[in-house]
Amino acid sequence: MIYFLASIAAIAGFLFGYDEGVIAVARPLLEKDFPMTPLVGGFMTAAVPLGALVGASLAGRITDRYGRRRVLMAAAALFAVGALIAAGMTATWILVAARLVLGLAIGVAAVTAPLYIAEAAPLAIRGALVSTYQLAITFGILVSYLSGLVITGDGDWRAMFALGAVPGVLFLIGLIFLPESPRWLVLRGWSDKARSSLQHLRGAGTPVEPELDEIVRTARAEAGQKHSYAALLAPTIRPALIVGMGLFFLQQLSGINAVIYYAPEIFHHAGFDSGKTQVLATIGVGTVNFVTTILAMYLIDRMGRRPLLVLGFVGTAATMLLIAFAVLNPALVPDWVVIVALLLYIASFAISIGPLPHVMMSEIFPLNVRGPGMSMASISNWGFNFLVVFAFPLMLAGVGLAFTFTIFAIICIGGILFTLARVPETTGISLEAIEAHLKSGRPFVSLRRPAPASAT
Ligand code: BGC
Repeated sequence: MIYFLASIAAIAGFLFGYDEGVIAVARPLLEKDFPMTPLVGGFMTAAVPLGALVGASLAGRITDRYGRRRVLMAAAALFAVGALIAAGMTATWILVAARLVLGLAIGVAAVTAPLYIAEAAPLAIRGALVSTYQLAITFGILVSYLSGLVITGDGDWRAMFALGAVPGVLFLIGLIFLPESPRWLVLRGWSDKARSSLQHLRGAGTPVEPELDEIVRTARAEAGQKHSYAALLAPTIRPALIVGMGLFFLQQLSGINAVIYYAPEIFHHAGFDSGKTQVLATIGVGTVNFVTTILAMYLIDRMGRRPLLVLGFVGTAATMLLIAFAVLNPALVPDWVVIVALLLYIASFAISIGPLPHVMMSEIFPLNVRGPGMSMASISNWGFNFLVVFAFPLMLAGVGLAFTFTIFAIICIGGILFTLARVPETTGISLEAIEAHLKSGRPFVSLRRPAPASAT
């Protein structure tokens, strides 16, 4: 059951990736029918991150009030409606409105889906299950790139947009068969419903009392505490807020979406003039992103969050610097080095900086502020996503590729220091134990996996 739940919730991730990637391939066809000024075109593209920013800011309160499952059902309906309006649009403003609606659904779901998975997952596979969400994002990006390879006729952009309605409807149908999050039910005081939800998730015959007891104990200890955004600033909670928002700041400023949205242009700048080579290399980017995320899912609960993060930031910094060097010294470095370095950059991202902020934002916040905390982390994700996607073409024109990539590399080096100084190790630690450590006032970064009990 838990695998079914994780797969259904991950459809939200697929839609996140699909709606990010589809505009890159749909836009050239779309502009033949609806010519746009750069300003209108830019706003139409940015409408998704903008809507997502709003959705993410509202999601915490809505999901704490109405429940994870019901909120995801509403988002699923918005995904389907937004996709159909975009496909049938007759004027540019309608498309802008449709993309704002899609963005809203993405923002709400980007907070709620990983939370829903984390709250329902058994401890041992929590990290791997939450990272199915990231895998689904990368799969959505890959499918949208591939749709650009397959659907190439005039007017076919309508088909590309309409395709997004299919996973939206599947998502809604799947949710009908799923139970509500047991942790949310406890939070509302419905222990009996929580027990049957947990039993449903763990399978008949599996004892669920110890797990339920711990959830109830934590919820009781929290009764009467503040659930507001202001509570996130309390001295004991603030370290979690810094980690949650900081990791997404670093994820976005690592330059990932410059590559995801503008890969063909980057290859063009690096000296690959053939459109076909650019498209194939872009599909290479999408494929490496997807495949490496599978490897990440295997490593996350084994290697630990901190070592993986350091590995990711070292890899992204080194490859960005290599590309900057190659672009500045074309005579010294053969062209293919840029493609290999960019693929290695994507691999370093996908093994670590891609999934880990999503995994950790669902782990580090105490139950009573988990909704607002995850909203703040998602606001950081979408706000900086918007910033990078908007600023990259301007930086390319202003200071050039090498300089821009050097800035990204410096931020990645900052990521190594941030991880060492601030990020706790949450691998193998229950959500309740993470919360207890945070509230104890000891430095958050000192949280460590307990040593395995000796065999004697
Ligand atoms: C990020 C997205 C990014 C994607 C690439 C996600 O973790 O939040 O902004 O496009 O990874 O795979």
